[in-house]
Amino acid sequence: MKNTYYITTPIYYVNDLPHIGHAYTTLSCDILARFKRLDDFDVFFLTGTDEHGQKVETAANNKNVKPHDFVDEVSQNFKNLLNCMNFSTDDFIRTTEKRHIKSCHKIWNALIDNGHIYLGKYAGWYAVRDEAFFLESELIDGKAPSGAPVEWVEEPSYFFNLSKWQDELLSFYDENKDFISPISRRNEILSFVKGGLKDLSVSRTSFSWGVNVPNDDNHIMYVWLDALTNYLSACNYSEDDKKDFFSKYWPANIHMVGKDIIRFHAVYWPAFLMAAKLPLPKKIFAHGWWTNEGNKISKSLGNVINPFEIVEKYGIDQVRYFLMREVPFGNDGDFSNSQLVNRVNSDLANSYGNLFQRVVSMICKNCDEEVPLKPKNFKIEDLILINSIKDHIDDYRFLIDNQKFDQYLKNIWITISNANKYVDEQAPWSLKKSDFSRMEDVLYILLETVRQVSILLQPFMPVSSKAILDHLKIADDERDFKSLGKMYEGGINISTPLPLFPRIN
Ligand code: ME8
Ligand code: MG
Repeated sequence: MKNTYYITTPIYYVNDLPHIGHAYTTLSCDILARFKRLDDFDVFFLTGTDEHGQKVETAANNKNVKPHDFVDEVSQNFKNLLNCMNFSTDDFIRTTEKRHIKSCHKIWNALIDNGHIYLGKYAGWYAVRDEAFFLESELIDGKAPSGAPVEWVEEPSYFFNLSKWQDELLSFYDENKDFISPISRRNEILSFVKGGLKDLSVSRTSFSWGVNVPNDDNHIMYVWLDALTNYLSACNYSEDDKKDFFSKYWPANIHMVGKDIIRFHAVYWPAFLMAAKLPLPKKIFAHGWWTNEGNKISKSLGNVINPFEIVEKYGIDQVRYFLMREVPFGNDGDFSNSQLVNRVNSDLANSYGNLFQRVVSMICKNCDEEVPLKPKNFKIEDLILINSIKDHIDDYRFLIDNQKFDQYLKNIWITISNANKYVDEQAPWSLKKSDFSRMEDVLYILLETVRQVSILLQPFMPVSSKAILDHLKIADDERDFKSLGKMYEGGINISTPLPLFPRIN
């Protein structure tokens, strides 16, 4: 039996069009999912849309359409993003689906049965944009810490006894040092929980767009309890005839989120799960935020970066590479068109693309379009190059398991740059006259390096790595990490490729 790997993105609010931030989160998950599949894991990769709550209801009202019709239409935008960025998701959950509503009812009933929910009255501040409650003391200049406007809310409400979970949460964080990553977020959450927790309002009565509370028609469930439960719904938590699926994949290996929603995932969610007597996810990773040319990205500033447009303009793999290479994952980053163009030209066109292009062209020209056979003997400089990837797959596993995407790419680019240096040092063009068989060996070594590099780049750049591996006629079942060590046989016919990464001016 294969090891399983369950990975989730946040489910995105449908009132917004997908932008670069959403694409970024799902991209990081896509890379993890693809890497794990190549490493022989049984992966379940989930994304979806968050369709309930006051914010979505208001957006529908503003358009004069029923919330149901509104969400049916706009959730499609997030589905379209999957194709646009070549995301390899296994399931797409919508919180208006039956399977999800059933699982919301099931977790609610578990919380009630275990005695963790009571009826009371909420009086306090609420920020619709964040869909979150705030204490007077948390407000900054009369607004939520995120800058979202708040309104005063007074209504009957069910409460979850969050205050009782402080000690259990703290000891859980202590025993599971990797649960919250990166460390800066872990420290933020530790100090928040140490500061004391208040019971959490988990139902609303002043509007109706949500999941009804079982046995009380006046209430709908708080949208965050509803939303977080999606991670259970999608693995059939409420489907009694599909228990195998649930026990196979739950608990999730990682919930990927942006730093804006870490508290919901690292405090409320584990408390809900403990209270419902369910196993906890292994890790919550909160990545940083993108700005646009130095400015906060916002609809009101009109500087939202549309992923569909930049993919159209620069190419899928170019955008995927830039987003993962430019900023250490976990840090904030600034999106700049000129930086993207620089990266594409220097790393993709001049380094990786050029290596592939020049080696294959030399083979076509000098070896009658046939890849030389595997050499009988290797020189030390040959081994240094071809072992630099295949002997270090554990390092790459470590980097992936710690979400160090930029470092992964930097390491690969060291090999690419060494391969380009090797071309210059070995000078196959002069070997052609002096030592033809050494020239063949050198070209073989270079193509073998390209093969290994391209196998490792599949999670990041699925389109171009596929094009290269197709060009080298590598069989589909010889592209996983087990195949790294089985050297290329050579002897196949090859043609001059078109440039994969044309320079952008
Ligand atoms: O919060 N930079 O949905 P949401 C990087 N429905 N990432 C960004 C970003 C930016 N500028 N802007 C948004 C919700 N994101 C809830 C989640 S989960 C049970 C419910 C990404 O549509 C980032 O991942 O507001 C952030 O956490 C997410 O979009 C918020 O998406
Ligand atoms: Mg948001």
